[in-house]
Amino acid sequence: MLDKIKQYIEETGKFKAENAEKLEEFRIHWLGRKGVLKSLFEDFKNVPNEMKKDVGQAVNTLRNQLEQIVENQKDSFSTATSVAFEDYTRPTGFDKGSKHPVSVVRREILEIFSHIGFKVAEGPEIEDDWHVFSGLNFPPEHPARDMQDTFFIERDPDILLRTHTSSVQVRAMKENQPPIRIVMPGRVFRNEAISSRSHCIFHQIEGLYIDEGVSFADLKQTLMFFAKEFFGKSKIRLRPSYFPFTEPSAEVDVYWGLNSETDYRITKGTGWLEILGCGMVDPNVLASSNIDPEKYSGFAFGMGIERIAMLRYQIDDIRLLFENDVRFLNQFQSI
Ligand code: PHE
Repeated sequence: MLDKIKQYIEETGKFKAENAEKLEEFRIHWLGRKGVLKSLFEDFKNVPNEMKKDVGQAVNTLRNQLEQIVENQKDSFSTATSVAFEDYTRPTGFDKGSKHPVSVVRREILEIFSHIGFKVAEGPEIEDDWHVFSGLNFPPEHPARDMQDTFFIERDPDILLRTHTSSVQVRAMKENQPPIRIVMPGRVFRNEAISSRSHCIFHQIEGLYIDEGVSFADLKQTLMFFAKEFFGKSKIRLRPSYFPFTEPSAEVDVYWGLNSETDYRITKGTGWLEILGCGMVDPNVLASSNIDPEKYSGFAFGMGIERIAMLRYQIDDIRLLFENDVRFLNQFQSI
């Protein structure tokens, strides 16, 4: 009998009711008027005297355990008590966050260039005139400075918010001798009116490769690789352009295609989309950063991350990327 009781103790110890009915069934089976416990007490009379103490203790343990189980589990099924004890301070229903499309695109671009050996470099947002303009072959008072309206912090000597990430090129060339192969992400600032197409703060990624014998063909090959990896498009074209720090300079378009009405709209019916500016680093720029232009050559490119993100996700107002309205951002939860 003792063994049987011990087995009951073990077996009922694991009991967990799924609902109130199951718990009541359990209670009736074990503790009810015709339940197991009742019959154990009846059998107790026949237990030999010398065993009474052990058996009695075991039966009591079983009873206490059964009563406790019923008592404890009852609470979890009784709605009245659960409302009374509900913890209103417990946080509920947090919205899931999402990555900002600019961060996603930035990371993806850096990743693509890392596959062909470009390391990441960064520089300060507050710069002097040398790193943003003069060291990049913008002579003083040259009209090319008007291409990038500038926020000045101090005048004479000029301290300003960088208008492009090309300033990081100058720092990298000053601090390292070739080979230099870097991509430089960062925030840039321009004193421009905010509209659906332009914003006074935005982000760029700059690329720079300097070594012996770097040619325009290397530049084109690198950009084709990027267009293929990022947009899945293998056709690009380079249009002649002008930047003071590159010679020759080009603007790069990818062939997007004209397969839908949206394609017609965003490419203005041409099928081509402009994605970045680039060129061969001007020998003057190399020389002013103490890199020998007779020995080395290189290319540079720069692109706006917002612009690329807008193309990728068909966003037609740049301001959406800065307002941080959760109704807009939540659409990027899956990326
Ligand atoms: N810095 C240029 C801009 O902001 C882009 C660029 C970078 C062009 C590197 C050529 C080479 O418009």
